[in-house]
Amino acid sequence: MSITILAIESSCDETAAAVCRDGVILSNFIANQTVHEQYGGVVPELASRAHMQNIVPVVYAALQKANQQSGEPTDEASIHALLQSVHAIAFTQAPGLIGSLLVGAQFAKSLALALNVPLIAVHHMQAHVLANLIEDPRPEFPFLCLTVSGGHTQIVLAESPLSLKVIGETMDDAAGEAFDKSAKLLGLPYPGGPLIDKYAQTGDPNRFKFPEPQIPGLNFSFSGLKTAILYFLQENTANNPNFIEENLADICASIQHRIISILLNKVKAAARTTGIDQICIAGGVSANSGLRKALTEMGQKHNWRTFIPAFQYCTDNAAMIAITAYYKFLENDFADLSVSPTARAEW
Ligand code: KG4
Ligand code: ZN
Repeated sequence: MSITILAIESSCDETAAAVCRDGVILSNFIANQTVHEQYGGVVPELASRAHMQNIVPVVYAALQKANQQSGEPTDEASIHALLQSVHAIAFTQAPGLIGSLLVGAQFAKSLALALNVPLIAVHHMQAHVLANLIEDPRPEFPFLCLTVSGGHTQIVLAESPLSLKVIGETMDDAAGEAFDKSAKLLGLPYPGGPLIDKYAQTGDPNRFKFPEPQIPGLNFSFSGLKTAILYFLQENTANNPNFIEENLADICASIQHRIISILLNKVKAAARTTGIDQICIAGGVSANSGLRKALTEMGQKHNWRTFIPAFQYCTDNAAMIAITAYYKFLENDFADLSVSPTARAEW
């Protein structure tokens, strides 16, 4: 039997829907919320409202694109026919902003009830890891995954699609926060990660030296870096008010260089302690061009097989929710209609 799943992601500020058939992504549609830029961060109330506005058109667009991809007509009747034929509805259950999660969860539950199909609850961070299974080349189990997003920084040991263990994580800020908070100190708009990436490309990564914390084991810490950057900027702008604009590329390159070295030194330690040589990355920060390049180079040096998802599967998306739901479907891992989303969730 062929399995078609409609998946919805609404954990933060992206409203997304995807259709997956037998583990193949037919469509992956995302509406980005630009309303937050002017506030320097995601405003939860505005995010929930934007999800409310976006969710129906986003789901509709995902269904339409799926029909297009499989050579079916894209008129309204054909889109309804596809909706009637889905075998399960998947949604992001946790973690995330509770108001945002509620919109996706409520929509998914209503749809599952109306279509009389099972509901699949997906953990957002597990889905980031399994984004590595969307396209070839795919890693074989077991593999390690450095999962770096706006809210999390983890090293995950993946034994099978549904057996994922966190073996290292941040003790304070996430890598994405380190990028975004540094960008804010530089006067750059939210989200600053992609902008630091952009300016870093023409800068000298060794011009300024920022400290690397000495945290035992496989855990991370980024709060010291943030403080070091703050003092560095205060000191230098006191002497030269134009310091940031005159040195933006070198500052960005140096900050990015340090964040990457903090991340990859722990990946190296994880590979050494587990003996696993297949290394994946996932999450929004894995879109960073410096990190992608550095991981590839480190992989070549250490004879690892490295896996880097396509950009669209690194940042928040529903294709990763759909692929995770597919593996859950195969294991009959369905959720009850009484399931509630939660802002925080242990694995
Ligand atoms: O996974 P994601 O889209 O959302 C969460 O689940 O948090 O990650 C968002 C984070 C933000 O902190 C953003 O600045 C960062 O990913 N990010 C980047 C890049 N693209 C997104 N950080 C550095 N370089 C990038 N190119
Ligand atoms: Zn995410």
